[in-house]
Order: sequence, then C-alpha cells, then structure tokens
Amino acid sequence: MLDKLVIQGGKRLTGDVRMSGAKNAALPLIAASILSEDGLELENVPDVTDVRTLLKAMERLGAIVEFQAETGKLNLTTSNVRPDEIPYDIVRKMRASVLLMGPLLGRFREAHVYTPGGCAIGARPINEHIHAFQKLGADHRIESGFAILRAPKLRGTQILFDRVTVTGTENAIMAAVMAEGETVIEHAANEPEVVDLCNCLIKMGAKINGVGNSRITIKGVRSLHRISHRVIPDRIEAGTYLMAIAASGGNGTLFAVNPEHLRIPIEKLVEAGVTVIPGKDSISIEAAHGVHPVDVETSPYPGFPTDLQAQFMALMTQAEGVSFVKETIFENRFQHVQELNRLGARLKIDGNRVIIRGGTTLQGAEVMATDLRASASLVIAGLTASGTTNIHHIYHLDRGYHNFEGKLQSLGADIARISE
Ligand code: EPU
Repeated sequence: MLDKLVIQGGKRLTGDVRMSGAKNAALPLIAASILSEDGLELENVPDVTDVRTLLKAMERLGAIVEFQAETGKLNLTTSNVRPDEIPYDIVRKMRASVLLMGPLLGRFREAHVYTPGGCAIGARPINEHIHAFQKLGADHRIESGFAILRAPKLRGTQILFDRVTVTGTENAIMAAVMAEGETVIEHAANEPEVVDLCNCLIKMGAKINGVGNSRITIKGVRSLHRISHRVIPDRIEAGTYLMAIAASGGNGTLFAVNPEHLRIPIEKLVEAGVTVIPGKDSISIEAAHGVHPVDVETSPYPGFPTDLQAQFMALMTQAEGVSFVKETIFENRFQHVQELNRLGARLKIDGNRVIIRGGTTLQGAEVMATDLRASASLVIAGLTASGTTNIHHIYHLDRGYHNFEGKLQSLGADIARISE
C-alpha cells in the first residue's frame, strides 16, 4: 500500500526539534564494517529505508545485523561475510549499494554488484569508481548485468578524479585502506560525510592523511579492528527544517546538529532576511518578517548542497521578487519544478537554472514526489499553501527522513500520513 501525506497549509512552525544522524554518512560507515573482521558498532544511525535496504544487503552477505531503531544503535558482526552477489532487487531500490564495492574489494579482493542505472535526478554513472578500482589493480567486467571486480593484488597508486564524486571518493578510500603501499587520491570529495568515514576508518586502524582536503593520502594496512563510532548529524535534514520553518514565517531551534556543516545554507538564509543563530550543536531560527529573493548555485562542499536545492526553491516561492537557482551537480534535478507550479508557483526552467518569480500565495493541490529531496520541497510548499495539499509517492521521503511528519507535527504543522 502506498502512503500519501495530507497537509493543511498556513500554520507557522514553531518549537524545538531534534535532528537524526546523517543518512549519507551512515551508509558508507555500514559498508565500511566489512573491512573489519570483527565488525563495527555505530551510534546515531537514522531509521530510514535507505539504511534498512543496505542492512538487508549486509545480511545477504552474511553479516549479523542488530539494529535498535529507537536508540540508533547498530551492531554489525562481519566475521562471516562473504563476497556474494548484490542483486538487482537491492541496487534498484538504492544506488548507494555501490558503496559495498570498495570494502568487498578491500577485504576479499573481489566484488559482484549489480550495475546501477540512472535515477530521477540524472544518469549517475559510476565510471569514476571503476577507474579508481582499476588504478588500484582490479580487473572490471560486466556479466549478466553484474559489475565484477577482481584484484589478485591491490596496490597503492595515484588516483585523480575527473569529477568530484562523494561515493566514488568513499569507495576509493575503502579499497585503498587495505591495499599494499601508498595511495594518493586527488580531486577528492571533502563532504563532511567523507570526513566522518575517514575518522571512523582511522579509529579502526587505517592510516589516512589529508582528511577533509582534496588530496588524501592512504597507507595500506593488513587489517582493521572493531570500534564504536557515532554518526555525524544530518546536515541535509537540518537544512530542510530550516527552510520549512523559514517558509512558514515561524521560529524554532534545531538540536543535535553541526552548524559548521551548514555555513553556506545559513549564509543564504541570513541574506534572505532570516535570523539564524548557530550554537555549539544547535541552530535557532526566526523568520517572522518574511524572506527576500536570493540566488544560489549548487557546488561540492562547502558550496550550497545540491541536496538542499529543491527545498530552497520552495522557500524562494515565498520571497517577493525574482531569484535564480542553478544546479551544477546533477543534470536532471528539476522534477519538483512542475509539481511546485501545480501549487501555483511561478518557476521556469532555463537550461541548468530555474527562474523563480516569488511572492505568490500557493494553493493546495495533488502533487507527486519524484525523488527524496523533491518530496521535501513539496512538503515545504504544502505547508505554506492555502487549503489541502496531497503528496503522493512519499516512499521517496522515507528513504532519507526519519519521522518527517511526526517532527513537523511537533512544530505545529497540520500534516498526516494516510494509506491509500
Ligand atoms: N559522476 C560521474 N561519474 C561517477 C560518479 C559521479 O560522472 O563515477 C557524476 C554524477 O553523475 C554527478 C556528479 O558526478 O553528476 C556528482 O555525483 P556524486 O558521485 O558526488 O554523487 P553520489 O556519490 O552518487 C552522493 C549522495 C547524494 C548527493 C551527491 C552529491 C550518498 C549516498 N549520496 O551521491 O545524495 O546528492 O553525493 O552531493 O552519499 C540524497 O541524499 O538525496 C542524494 C542524492
């Protein structure tokens, strides 16, 4: 049965809300547990379906998974893991299953993972991942849809990424920590999630230098050991709530966040006239006086994240005047535009940017979620619209937001999940 969200818009969001652990940090960390023969303990793991999908894949490989969803504690025992196939039915649910390639190659010198296709936001090839594995000595071929990687030996090397790739960098790091000798990765992604992975691997015994830089040096080791690691807060979830509160003209405080990871989104909100006060692990926001139009362009960290672009666009529909949002990471990440227009927004796609004529009063309608962050933008728009908005296909939302409607209800939103 599919669920939909029903929103009665027009309520100001106010109050305090706690953020979850970062989905995009938890996924590579779960995969990294394969590198340790005695497993890994993680804390602050978000209970979202992408995490559940990866845990299913881990069980298929022979891992023992104990997940206490309420506390976010995850115990992974990986002593019996084998480099079995990761089939289509898992990869089709979640492209990030490709994150298993690096650690399987690192520990077993082989990996069999179904090749992921494109998705709603772009073609999303994995050529950069494969290039990195080949440089480390792996042989790659495609057989019956599976990407098969085999490396009699993994040897340290120089990897120069053509494009900055988050999961590509994570995969290269996870394979290189177990290679013989030194690997230098250049043009590496330095997203906080990549840093979190490196910090966890270092605790497990890996030798990594240049963490958080675009040049990372890794000295291979023979084995890694079990430790306990706390997943960083979800900066994209936090950014989503900041934009939801701002769009509703409300005020509140987010807890369990790292404001350092959101410097540019916060700067953009301040530029838009919103008061934002970062604390040590909290962010307070006050937006009673409306928002002004502000332009954004997505770019790799610390730039404005592509994962907040759709939500920012929903916010800009509320600004008096014209703003521009330019997407430089993915080639097809504007599927929310026509849905936002159904609610009465005036958005126009012009190549890789969207022109937003703000200041319209949105009106509730039937809309369809197309991907995770697009769904979040529709929720934000629905919260500001007059009347009722029904958002269909919200399984996309559940992939990356834990208890979205519950947290919004706690801020005073009129939102309910209905099974259709
Ligand atoms: N790219 C290539 N070749 C490759 C890899 C990437 O051409 O081999 C291109 C992509 O097509 C894209 C660009 O490089 O145009 C950047 O893609 P990247 O590899 O960085 O994306 P990703 O690692 O697949 C992660 C997040 C995404 C987030 C992007 C960008 C995870 C599990 N996923 O994806 O998160 O949008 O980085 O920051 O970490 C989301 O959470 O909603 C989400 C889509």
